[in-house]
Amino acid sequence: MLKGKNVLLAVTGSIAAYKTAFFVRLLVKEGAEVQVIMTNSAKDFITPLTLSTLSKRPVIIEPFDPETGEWSNHVELGRWADVMVVAPASANTLSKMAAGIADNFVTTCYLAAKCPVFFAPAMDLDMFYHPSVQKNIDILQSYGNLLISPQEGELASGLCGAGRMEEPDQIIQVLSDYFAEAKELHGKKILVTAGPTYEPIDPVRFIGNYSSGKMGFSLAEVLARKGADVTLVTGPTVLDTPARIKNRIDVHTAVQMAEVCYDLARDSDVVVMAAAVADYAPVSIAKSKIKKSEEVTSLELKKNPDILAELGKRKKKGQILAGFALETDNEKENAFAKLQNKNLDLIVLNSLKDAGAGFNTDTNKVNVLFKNGEIKEFPLKDKTLVAGDIAAIIKDLLDS
Ligand code: PMT
Repeated sequence: MLKGKNVLLAVTGSIAAYKTAFFVRLLVKEGAEVQVIMTNSAKDFITPLTLSTLSKRPVIIEPFDPETGEWSNHVELGRWADVMVVAPASANTLSKMAAGIADNFVTTCYLAAKCPVFFAPAMDLDMFYHPSVQKNIDILQSYGNLLISPQEGELASGLCGAGRMEEPDQIIQVLSDYFAEAKELHGKKILVTAGPTYEPIDPVRFIGNYSSGKMGFSLAEVLARKGADVTLVTGPTVLDTPARIKNRIDVHTAVQMAEVCYDLARDSDVVVMAAAVADYAPVSIAKSKIKKSEEVTSLELKKNPDILAELGKRKKKGQILAGFALETDNEKENAFAKLQNKNLDLIVLNSLKDAGAGFNTDTNKVNVLFKNGEIKEFPLKDKTLVAGDIAAIIKDLLDS
């Protein structure tokens, strides 16, 4: 998986830098082109000569050589790399990366990198668990950078715990798995919907539901990680766009969501409707805030379009349509009815009877129902892992 890949390896100041000699050797053996860049402190732990010799390329430490006037182009390198690996990533470098500080060649290249960036922290356990370090790791992950967690064991300080940089052969495995996964859905166009719809009553009130968008956003992220070209259509949510999602369309109402989805679905290989679309909307929207004194005691409602049912009618040959069913009673029976009525290939059932499942939680417990009557049951998991299970099912269906 690493043959012919351009790897930009950033080595920073930690005793674990000694492991990068083995890491570079393994990368070269795998057929990767390796460009090593280092911070000045990293030189105290491993010599540039060692890494230049193993990588067969001069190591870059300074962006500019005042004697020769030569400079190294961080933007070019950032675009050359298929992947950047910061290993070991010291607490100091992590904090600069999280804050966007570009005061050396490593952090400058990091900001310029257009490729996926992995980082493998290495430090003493108390440093690793310091809230600022943990916060920086969270920030970096929220930018889409990929954490290679440190291992537990004896540390240079003599203490025992988390902080040991992952072993080079394991990092190779992580990178290989990443490139393998990124091929799984390459070339597939996938439309994912997420969040609630808000149906306005007047300028300050609406009919809505508790959907946070987490399930749909997780799905979009995992499908994009597998190489799919994902468009995320979402109702109102506070969630940030996942790093790999380039196309996000925000809508408010079911009618707006319907228009966007009908258009995008024509060109999609897969449609996954995780949105909690309101079934009804007020017949009329008051132009001004309805006053208490107006004594409105009932609202006249009209039916919203059933987007998924319409997509089921318009389904193209070979297209996969996946719905969700949020149920409270007779769950499987109701979900199977939706699967059939809406002409779906699969439906993901979540029940509000299961603690930790459904709306506005970080977890979900789902059963996936297929049109041949088969049911796959999954335990309660983080929504990212649930998304992984659903994405694997979609891939199998596309391959079959
Ligand atoms: O966003 P989270 O807080 O993470 O919560 C996730 C979730 C509970 C919203 C999600 O897992 C989920 O179950 N989404 C679908 C909720 C829902 O609307 O279920 P339903 O059984 O009413 O609808 C069945 C399917 O038809 C759904 O795929 C829905 O998107 C679609 N539908 C429904 C009504 C409608 N008018 N148009 C539709 O397309």
